[in-house]
Amino acid sequence: MDAGLSVAEARRIVTRRLEAAGVDAAAAEALVLLEAATGLDRADLLVRPEHVLEGDERRRLLEALRRRVAREPLQHILGSAPFYGLELAVDGTVLVPRPETERLVELVLERLRPCEAPRVLDVGTGSGAVALAVKAERPDAEVMASDVSTEAVRMARRNAAALGLDVVVVRSDLLAEGAVAAFAAGCDALVANLPYLPSGDARTLQAEAAHDPALALFGGDDGLDVVRRLLAQASRVMRSGALLALELDPRNLGLAERELLGWRATCRASDLAGRERFLLARR
Ligand SMILES: C[S@@+](CC[C@H](N)C(=O)[O-])C[C@H]1O[C@@H](n2cnc3c(N)ncnc32)[C@H](O)[C@@H]1O
Repeated sequence: MDAGLSVAEARRIVTRRLEAAGVDAAAAEALVLLEAATGLDRADLLVRPEHVLEGDERRRLLEALRRRVAREPLQHILGSAPFYGLELAVDGTVLVPRPETERLVELVLERLRPCEAPRVLDVGTGSGAVALAVKAERPDAEVMASDVSTEAVRMARRNAAALGLDVVVVRSDLLAEGAVAAFAAGCDALVANLPYLPSGDARTLQAEAAHDPALALFGGDDGLDVVRRLLAQASRVMRSGALLALELDPRNLGLAERELLGWRATCRASDLAGRERFLLARR
């Protein structure tokens, strides 16, 4: 890109290069990258197409474009992702929270409405998305989040601190840590968006998914290795009436449902695209 490059020219070039790299929403993303590189908002960019990018702005734009053309997720490049009205710091050490997981939060919040000061455990918290959204919506809740990944625990704590949300984050393999098992035993809701993709999907996922940690995505042959272990542990420790809410893959939701022997009020829920991906049950 030349020195003396205007916003309008930069938009055209960036859009073309993103399209050539196979990025779906190339024009929209070009604007986002320009916003990040210049600090100007969308409206400014649109009304000042002749604005010439300064040296630093051009360098930032080029670097961001290089990463996006390599199909690094946009959120890694921006350093944050929106989730349920919150802005969460993310990088390659945690899963970028997905829009469909907002439905999981909604389902849990709906069911917790009659419950005063609920105790909620988010297992496999990643960036802290689910736990922090629940705490933001229900400040009276006592919320614990856990993850087996040290980096995820660090990121979730960082997000909790930045948002001023009082969520305790513990490193634990599912419910193995004493503090997590004890919290699970007394909780009103255990919510988990654990890795649930069949390992074979690694070959066919979008290029961006290669930048997510494999630990966050894959759960063995049918995707349920980690979920099955959680179900066994939750069945042992959770108290009668407590809610379990899981996000799964539409292909293995039925299989997971069959593991819920002895659970009550089991029901399925769909995402906005109508795919069944949530399983809810009462102990
Ligand atoms: C699909 S990601 C979801 C992250 C977050 N809940 C969200 O919705 O954005 C799954 C998370 O589960 C964590 N995880 C994988 N195996 C685990 C285990 N055995 N115990 C606890 N967490 C685990 C991963 O580190 C990852 O952060």
